Amino acid sequence: TGPDDAASRIAAWQRQAGRHGLPWQHTRDPYRIWLSEIMLQQTQAATVVPYYERFLGLFPSVVDLADAPQDAVLHAWAGLGYYARARNLHRCAQTVRDQHGGRFPATAAELAQLPGIGPSTAAAVAAFAYGERAPILDGNVRRVLARYFAIEGDPTAARIAQQLWGHAHALIDAAPADLDMAAYTQGQMDLGATVCTRTRPDCARCPLAQDCQARLQKRQDELPTPRAR
Ligand code: ADE
Repeated sequence: TGPDDAASRIAAWQRQAGRHGLPWQHTRDPYRIWLSEIMLQQTQAATVVPYYERFLGLFPSVVDLADAPQDAVLHAWAGLGYYARARNLHRCAQTVRDQHGGRFPATAAELAQLPGIGPSTAAAVAAFAYGERAPILDGNVRRVLARYFAIEGDPTAARIAQQLWGHAHALIDAAPADLDMAAYTQGQMDLGATVCTRTRPDCARCPLAQDCQARLQKRQDELPTPRAR
């Protein structure tokens, strides 16, 4: 075992020990997955669930959302905070309606062109909805990869982020063709949230521990390098 099967180990760990049973994990509808990813960007899953269900009751499809008045969308969002997200959400739905015939585009590259969808969110939607072999790199995943590869430097700095994207691509390229992209993608998020935590990572439960460079160097508490301030 080595970096070649790291992605498979994460996917297997997710199926066994990751988070399950959340409503957006039981669909391949890109609209539902996109909605959940935007809601989950700054809000924890337990809080998101009732908003997600109510939102879909009000706006069952992306065209329903696009056609709704903005104040109805902001009202349904109220309580989740960060209203710029709700405005972008509405603009994104209108773009899908007006420029894509009411259907979400089928690749991460095209999804990343839509309002409010960054490269990592685009990849998450494409992986969950379409099984595309697209890497994600959100805050949790930056931490996991900075430790696994013992990358020094602020992981949000452009040069370091570039390196981390390179590793994220390489892990998928090295993985077998039948890699379960939904489990792998969710697994990276779950690993960062529950095991490879910022302080006191629980390496005993980690599927990457055996070849984690930070752990082998006993530097898991020093990496990733804190942001300079
Ligand atoms: N944060 C962003 N996307 C998420 C997901 N799919 N599950 C849990 N937390 C997330």
